[in-house]
Amino acid sequence: MNQKSNATEQSSTQQIEVRRLRFGLSYELPKYWNNGDDVRTYIFNAIALLAPAFERLAITSVLPYKEDIQDPLLKEQVQGFIGQESAHGSEFIRMQCLLKNQGYNPKQIEKLNIDKFKVLAQKFSPEMHLSFTLAAEHVTAVISDLLLTEKNWLSGAPKEMAALWRWHAIEEIDHKAVVFDLYKAVGGSYWIRVKGMLLMTFVLWMYLTRNYVHLAKTDKKLLSPKFWLKTVWILWGGPGFMRKQLMPYLSYFMPNFHPWRKDNYHLIKRFKEAYAELPKLKIVDFLSDY
Ligand SMILES: [Fe+2]
Ligand SMILES: [Fe+2]
Repeated sequence: MNQKSNATEQSSTQQIEVRRLRFGLSYELPKYWNNGDDVRTYIFNAIALLAPAFERLAITSVLPYKEDIQDPLLKEQVQGFIGQESAHGSEFIRMQCLLKNQGYNPKQIEKLNIDKFKVLAQKFSPEMHLSFTLAAEHVTAVISDLLLTEKNWLSGAPKEMAALWRWHAIEEIDHKAVVFDLYKAVGGSYWIRVKGMLLMTFVLWMYLTRNYVHLAKTDKKLLSPKFWLKTVWILWGGPGFMRKQLMPYLSYFMPNFHPWRKDNYHLIKRFKEAYAELPKLKIVDFLSDY
């Protein structure tokens, strides 16, 4: 069986299960929770400040198509996708409460996100709106793959945090092809897909940078050359949070791209099996050193 038929088979047979987990994030967690490092913590916090708005944008982009989906399995998968993204949104809002307690202003950022994303959704066609989601889903799937394979990205993080981010990464891989399959089923074109990615890349960069600057500014690090040198090193140097995303990101522009061409199902299989068997309370422990 070649890679494409393998991929198609995998994406078309998966059930997308909604798993509402609680991670017990507490105000006692250290401010620089990711191994005591400000930059490593800010990278994840900047994502948490953007995630709920993106998840809402994703959900609203599939709604206009949902009722007309002919394939019953795809219909079910889209419902699962909505359920997973809304569960993610709730957990990231919970994480934002922690950030508020640490002196940041997630409420103001959320409001800006909601206003801007509303414009984005209204200004463009439903096909382009879906293409934005498709693009964001690819970027999220790339980051999720790295998060589960690059163990040092979360080494030293408290178990609740590590579990939360791994759960999110697993579910993002779990549903990574759903929007793509929907986009194909409704006749979405290659060019709109590419345009959506170019615009979404710009939006993601702008918003994540804004969030990162907000975190650094609140902690009075904006004028520290040492802080910025470390930022560049962690993003583009050895640890390479951005550098390592580059090649998988570019695969999106291949005309024959499909999310499951990158077959990383093995990364989530162990969790899916454990989730079916382990008592819910043990799942967070299981995820914390996944
Ligand atoms: Fe998500
Ligand atoms: Fe997603």
